[in-house]
Amino acid sequence: MPKLLVAPSILTADFARLGEQIREAEAAGVDWIHLDVMDGRFVPNLTFGPLVVEAIRKVTALPLDVHLMIVEPERYIADFARAGADWITVHHEATPHAHRAVQQIKELGKKAGLAINPGTPLEALLPLLPELDLALLMSVNPGFGGQKYIPASTERIRRLAALRGQMNPACLIQVDGGIKPVNVAEVYRAGADVVVVGSALFNNRPVAENMKKLLGEVYA
Ligand code: DX5
Ligand code: ZN
Repeated sequence: MPKLLVAPSILTADFARLGEQIREAEAAGVDWIHLDVMDGRFVPNLTFGPLVVEAIRKVTALPLDVHLMIVEPERYIADFARAGADWITVHHEATPHAHRAVQQIKELGKKAGLAINPGTPLEALLPLLPELDLALLMSVNPGFGGQKYIPASTERIRRLAALRGQMNPACLIQVDGGIKPVNVAEVYRAGADVVVVGSALFNNRPVAENMKKLLGEVYA
């Protein structure tokens, strides 16, 4: 099975020393940096905009994976692309024009992702699946780090992996929310290519120790 990519979500990192935490994650061997952009409307939390992406771009050469949890994301895609995003993911539920948003991301030379919430039928991804670089299955209700993995997500990963195999084998499956050492192997075996991990990487112990624990479960 392909190597599981780990994308730490900085939402639960220590923002008072964000650069240090990014460097710590990079030294621990993470693959991407996952940036949770929230507008307080699509989700009940407010985080950061292109300014922070620009600052992080100066700190790491790792791919920046920007997760737009904002309404009408088309308004800001160009700003995040300019700020240094490599992957830009919009939510199907956040715009009536998901197809246009995906086209816009690709026209800017970035990798395009489409995300769906746990309550959104998998079928919502299908019309665009052939054109996606990434399909993001939320395994928590978006808005906060530190939530519990929704167990029904595993079957959704399995079903999406089968559909991806038929419709777009190059599309990566990303799973985001509540990923821990206790469930990461199940998520990987179900077909996830990328896992977003926030609190399980940045909380309690040094990132390197948390990363070792996480991957120890995957490749056990
Ligand atoms: C939630 C975000 C996730 C979250 C992951 O809306 O999209 O990326 O920060 O954090 P954990 O791993 O703690 O669930
Ligand atoms: Zn996220």
